[in-house]
Amino acid sequence: MGSHLADVWFQVTDLAVVSGSGCTVTTEDGTEYLDFTSGIAVTSTGHCHPTVVAAIQEQATKFIHAQVNCYRHPLLEQLATRLADIAPSGIDTFFFANSGAEATEAAVKLAKHATARPNVVVFQGSFHGRSHLTMAMTTSKTGYRAGYQPLPSGIFVTPFPYAVRDGGTEADAVKRALAAFDLLLVTQTAPAETAAVVMEPVLGEGGYLPAPRAFVEGIKVRCEQHGILFVADEVQSGFGRCGTMFAIESSGIDPDIVVMAKGIASGFPISAIGASAEIMGRWPVGAHGGTYGGNPIGCAAALATIDVLTAPGFMENVRDRGEQLRAGLRHLAVTHPVIGDVRGPGLMVGCEIFDAGGQPDAARVAAVAAHCRDEGRLLLMNAGTAGNVLRWMPPLVVSEAEITTALDAFGAALTATA
Ligand SMILES: Cc1ncc(COP(=O)(O)O)c(C=O)c1O
Repeated sequence: MGSHLADVWFQVTDLAVVSGSGCTVTTEDGTEYLDFTSGIAVTSTGHCHPTVVAAIQEQATKFIHAQVNCYRHPLLEQLATRLADIAPSGIDTFFFANSGAEATEAAVKLAKHATARPNVVVFQGSFHGRSHLTMAMTTSKTGYRAGYQPLPSGIFVTPFPYAVRDGGTEADAVKRALAAFDLLLVTQTAPAETAAVVMEPVLGEGGYLPAPRAFVEGIKVRCEQHGILFVADEVQSGFGRCGTMFAIESSGIDPDIVVMAKGIASGFPISAIGASAEIMGRWPVGAHGGTYGGNPIGCAAALATIDVLTAPGFMENVRDRGEQLRAGLRHLAVTHPVIGDVRGPGLMVGCEIFDAGGQPDAARVAAVAAHCRDEGRLLLMNAGTAGNVLRWMPPLVVSEAEITTALDAFGAALTATA
């Protein structure tokens, strides 16, 4: 008999890992790899950070499950209070779920109740999850939706500025995308029918592509004008990944709802949405819920994670290592012009690869990633609709020496695959 596991998961590598520590994972045969996937941008404090492990161990002796409808455990309020301290301005009330998709769905459900409007606008290239609603909100690749259509209705897709792909300056791309958004509101979903706009401040799966500040501002102005809620999906970009606690902070705008998961608890599955008490107060008792949301071990892991992220010097390391990484990649681009763009804040860095004819080169990305894995013992993932973006998402505790090692492995892979 072969494996009893479903085949449905795509595999980034076929490695069989048995443990992880910091930026390293170890396989069954004892080989160590530098894990720059962070389990898809999750293990921001590194694998098995001692503070997080201790908090999980301690909590496991007290309560593994304390169902939120049946009774309340103390960490719920503690985590909500802590999140209110670090969340974007105005976000002070929280609902807990288990995954990013579930939290995104919760945000949409809240927005529908809060506005009494049915529709949602999302951006071309975004990824919001694998449940039916979040698949309908996901347009980074047809592969995620194929075989599942028709998907839930009421989702409208508008362009995201992508000057590197579409040509022209960033300002041109912003202008085009804002004009398309305006057109959408007069041709497909009227403001009076539009509950929310859901934006990833940095497109994740769609190619590690930051939303230009002028674009975020332009969308926010339109939302305010029309009473549409601005939802920031910070599932991938949040919790220090971008060098600030949330990526939206650098745009200077305050979202109405923030969606949080991945980095929130260093890998323990817990997610959250945050909004103002006023917006959250428009969600009637019993209108949403879930068996596991607010799990006590998840809350303990999240509280410990936030302690690590807010320790003095932590965020400076994210910003400094991000600078080091981007500088190193730009340096490599001089000798390897296939690197057409290096972008992204903090340690959410994308590196877009083109062939000699200027076309997206997914095959080269795959070859480079394979060489990094086999020869450099470095794990990398791709992103982007065309699969030609290498995404750099190391644990946020990554050291200067580890970035240097990774850049050396990447440089060697570019040379070997030329
Ligand atoms: C921006 C964003 N939103 C939502 C999700 C879905 O999260 P999950 O896989 O935990 O359901 C992801 C996952 O990659 C994501 O990157």
